[in-house]
This record gives sequence, structure tokens and C-alpha cells, in this order.
Amino acid sequence: MENLDLKRLPKHVAIIMDGNGRWAQEQGQDRLFGHYHGVVSVRKVVEAAAEIGIEFLTLYAFSTENWDRPEAEVTGLMTLFVDTIAKEVPDLHKNNIKLSFIGNLDMLPTSAKQALADATAQTAQNTGLTLIIALSYSSRWELVEATKKIAQKVQNGQLSTDQITEATISENLTTSAFPDPELMIRTSGECRISNFLLYQLAYSELYFTDTRWPEFRKADLVKALLDYQSRERRFGKTSAQVQIDV
Ligand code: FPP
Repeated sequence: MENLDLKRLPKHVAIIMDGNGRWAQEQGQDRLFGHYHGVVSVRKVVEAAAEIGIEFLTLYAFSTENWDRPEAEVTGLMTLFVDTIAKEVPDLHKNNIKLSFIGNLDMLPTSAKQALADATAQTAQNTGLTLIIALSYSSRWELVEATKKIAQKVQNGQLSTDQITEATISENLTTSAFPDPELMIRTSGECRISNFLLYQLAYSELYFTDTRWPEFRKADLVKALLDYQSRERRFGKTSAQVQIDV
């Protein structure tokens, strides 16, 4: 944590955990082996984020597009999610971590839905790090859902079209209770956003690393945070304006 300025931390860090499959194949193992090792990284990074003082951490665990993977991988991942969540909840709770899930959860098997509901209820009163797991999530799906909700309010007469603002859209997203991420990290060398938080990432700093997710540890998170702190966030203003604002 050397040189990390604890007063200038992002409140919300979002991570696309990528590279489990490639990492496993590089070891001559099947893809699920990579996902199992990915859980170790999840544990380490959650622990590190809480210790550093990050308030919100969103992890992209499964996209709506991931449903099209081979059936054995999808079933294996679902089992892994349910087992991991059930196993980790007591420890998360002990560490004052609040769990939240975003995504099209209706698509999940009943056992998984129940495990997520239990984990959410058990940790609902916690006041430390909020850990948000994006499961069966895609940003375009979320934007379609938000549009339907807003259209319904207009149809019911609760809202007029000229009252619709950027805030109206934010308030109707699955992330309405959380601030937008200031930093988005993607592991494994791919430089894409892949249908993740498209609206919420409008002004986020993007950080890409070649490290595969199963090898991502606290030192890698700190490196990303240091990189974030070395950047000037201008939000469309000039550098001179930003320096006067500070
Ligand atoms: C992307 O790597 C990773 C996934 C689709 C699954 C991520 C899931 C975990 C790390 C387990 C997390 C568990 C909990 C409880 C949150 P990939 O398979 O796309 O890798 P590749 O690009 O190398 O093929």
C-alpha cells in the first residue's frame, strides 16, 4: 500500500474478472479449474478492498451472454456460485460486508435464487464494504428494463416525458443504490467493456492488465489504484479548470 493516498480512493471499483479459462488451459486443465482458482482471487480482492477502505466493489461474475457457453461449464459455474456464496456468507457477515446482486436473476436456477436471497438478507444490515455481484447481467438488458419502467411511469401518469433526466435513468437501473464506479479494472489483456455498466462507466477511469484473474492479488489491486491516483479526472473540463476547482 506504499504511496497509496487513502484520502483519494475511488469509492466504487468495478472489475471484469477475465482469463479463468485461458489460465486453466495454459496449465493443461479444463476451464472449470480456472473458475475454482478465480474464487481464491475473489476472496483475496474482497479482503483487500475492505482493508484499503473501498466502499463499493462490483464483480462481473456471469454475463447474459455466458448462458450460451457449453452446458457443463454453465452448470459448473452455477454450482460454484451457490456453494461459494453459501460457504463465504458467515465470513463476509463477520467482516461487516453487505452483499448485493444485480442482473436478470429470474434466469437463475431456483436453488441459486434462494442462496442469493438468503445471502442478501443475512448481510443487509452490514455497514462496511458493499460487495455487488453481477450475475446473469448485461448492460443492454438493464437499459431495456429501465426504459420499460420509465415508459410505464409515463403511461401511468406518474412522470411526464420532459421530467426525464439523466438522474431518472440512473434511478431506474439495477445499480440505483450505488454511486457510479470511478475505476473499472479488466484482467487478462482484453480491452473491451463487454456489455458491463455502459451507462455507469461514462466517466470511469479504465484500467487493463494482462494478469489473468486467477493470479490477480492485492498487489495488483494496489497497482491499479496507484495508476488511478496518477490520472487527472477532468469530466470534460480543461486541465486548468480542474486545477482551479481543487
Ligand atoms: C471469465 O473468464 C470468468 C467467468 C465467466 C466466471 C467468473 C467467475 C468466478 C471468478 C467465480 C466467482 C465466484 C463468485 C462467488 C463471485 P473466462 O472464462 O471468460 O476466461 P477466458 O476469457 O480465458 O476464456
